[in-house]
Amino acid sequence: MTLTRRVLVLNGPNLGRLGIREPEVYGSATLEDLAGVCRATGRQLGLEVEVRQTDDEAEMIRWVHEAADGRTPVVLNPAAFTHYSYALRDALAIRTAPLIEVHLSNPAARETFRHTSVVAGVADGTVAGFGLLSYQLALQAIVTLMAAPQTVPPAAERAPQRAAP
Ligand code: DQA
Repeated sequence: MTLTRRVLVLNGPNLGRLGIREPEVYGSATLEDLAGVCRATGRQLGLEVEVRQTDDEAEMIRWVHEAADGRTPVVLNPAAFTHYSYALRDALAIRTAPLIEVHLSNPAARETFRHTSVVAGVADGTVAGFGLLSYQLALQAIVTLMAAPQTVPPAAERAPQRAAP
């Protein structure tokens, strides 16, 4: 019997507005479309994917705690929380399973304030700039990390990073 692995795909503020929100940046797909693509990709990969979205930092942190308690892998688009939420970063550092940061757009090619991710340092990796494909690639990365976790050690086991000045 093959075990279906549960994965949470968590989305931060304003991503509930996909489809009407700056379509020239984020495309025309809605959050429902995004969820459908993630679930379909999950089925192909043997994952049970649950997609959630919140505009509320406290709710996002509760979901991250829930994932840590359940040893559940997470694909996370922190949206604007990416750039300033130390509270979310600290919650993510408690993680007990793979974590991939995703972005629809490529923040590195946008405004300067988007060039900083305070969560990237506690993630296994980041996929950005590919629209919905970013999520599909992140789910593929979760499968790869679950199959061969020794190839990429969890952030907690990596050499400590220098503190920001
Ligand atoms: C985003 C990029 C962030 O800078 C922005 O605040 C978002 C969406 C993306 O998916 O491209 O809300 O995370």
